[in-house]
Amino acid sequence: MTDARNEALTPRAIVSYLDRYIVGQRKAKRAVAVALRNRIRRLVLPEEIAREIAPKNILMVGPTGVGKTEIARRLSQLVSAPFIKVEATKFTEVGYVGRDVESMIRDLVERSVQMVKHRKIEEVREEASSRARERILDALIPPRKVQEKVSDFMHIFSGQPQKEERPPTEDEERAEKQRLSTRERLGRMLDEGKLEGREIEIEISENAQVGIPVMGGPGMEEMGINIGEMLSGIFPKKKKRRVVTVETARGILEAEEAEKLVDHEAAAQEGLKKAQEEGIVFIDELDKVASAGSGHSGPDVSREGVQRDLLPIVEGCTVNTRYGPVRTDHILFIAAGAFHKMKPSDLVPELQGRLPLRVELDPLSEDDLARILVEPEHSLVDQYKALLSTENVVLSFTDGAVREIANLAARMNRETEDIGARRLHTMMENLLEEIQFDASELSGQEVTVDDNNVRDKLEILVADTDVRKYLL
Ligand SMILES: Nc1ncnc2c1ncn2[C@@H]1O[C@H](COP(=O)(O)OP(=O)(O)OP(=O)(O)O)[C@@H](O)[C@H]1O
Ligand SMILES: [Mg+2]
Repeated sequence: MTDARNEALTPRAIVSYLDRYIVGQRKAKRAVAVALRNRIRRLVLPEEIAREIAPKNILMVGPTGVGKTEIARRLSQLVSAPFIKVEATKFTEVGYVGRDVESMIRDLVERSVQMVKHRKIEEVREEASSRARERILDALIPPRKVQEKVSDFMHIFSGQPQKEERPPTEDEERAEKQRLSTRERLGRMLDEGKLEGREIEIEISENAQVGIPVMGGPGMEEMGINIGEMLSGIFPKKKKRRVVTVETARGILEAEEAEKLVDHEAAAQEGLKKAQEEGIVFIDELDKVASAGSGHSGPDVSREGVQRDLLPIVEGCTVNTRYGPVRTDHILFIAAGAFHKMKPSDLVPELQGRLPLRVELDPLSEDDLARILVEPEHSLVDQYKALLSTENVVLSFTDGAVREIANLAARMNRETEDIGARRLHTMMENLLEEIQFDASELSGQEVTVDDNNVRDKLEILVADTDVRKYLL
């Protein structure tokens, strides 16, 4: 179960990966790292004890724009476990009946099965590509059998008597030898990439698309039944002949052969199991489904409803999916929310109990903001540099400029609403508006932004209490 990728995912490695993208927030990084590692640890334990070890679900609490969602996003890119991220608010939308809370588990299973399929396709890639090669050669120089069939077919239509089975004549044998050696030569040219542009006709099986879109009711989704898919199993797969280049054909045929080589039922079962044992669900914006006290009507009813629906899933229940039933006991849930109006204590008590691990994220200081501008991989500053580099403009910022942007952003966060690092986005956009507009005419030039430029552009805006409400 523990593959090499898992081995390498020590808590320290996870934290240092997150450090590449997220400034600060050490506690939150450590908590998710430990929770992830414990899941890998559990998998190597004997069944009896592994069954008892429930995941320590996490609740990340912190002001807006300090990196909660960002941590989830980066984690999902790192782990090899099936991972999905949902917004709790998605289940409250008024009049939205289709998406029930359980659908998050079905999405997780779907993701997991797709991951397993991808891996299995990877495993048969070599075999698939050698089969595709044969099919391309067949198209370039058809095998003998096919040629005969065609001529038999012609006999039926022309009403002539069919040829008797007989040993091939000397002429035919020579022709066949000739054909085989041509095929071999073509094979060599193919391998050397000399035929990539050549057009060939291939037969592709299309995924039967049923003409009318078939709607399943909400109940159908609950049972995990997809009518369109059921029907496509009934109708035979359509074949279609297409003329394409060898290069394109290879892509199509390799995918088709790989699809045939993979045992889909086994992949489904493995995917199901993987979701059940290793799955991670990140529930974002959980504070938005908290409601202040009871006795309210209106939207609060549906909010509390979402929480009640979440309970059994977080607690451990069975959800039906189209691959079969899945237990949620060992799925790890990480929830996050700003909780600035609501408190975690405004969640229904049972739900609070099921998210025992609380981690607080810190508000961002001026220092953090300055680091966020430049330190993370593909930081905001890097992004603007990259954009302008396409116009052949070399953009750079002095240290003083970065300091000044952070200083003004922190001041804005203090004096108006604290929106964390999101403030940097609006500041940068205002700061660089002119340069971005002129960039196309600045080709070949270097543009350096220093602290004076920053003050010139932004300080007036920050100082003007009316204007800043709209611009920054
Ligand atoms: N600590 C940080 N390090 C680097 N970038 C950050 C950090 N915090 C926030 N950001 C950046 O700020 C933006 C908003 O962050 P994020 O989406 O994580 O906010 P959040 O904590 O989920 O807020 P909300 O509660 O409003 O959802 C993102 O572009 C993110 O990259
Ligand atoms: Mg968020």
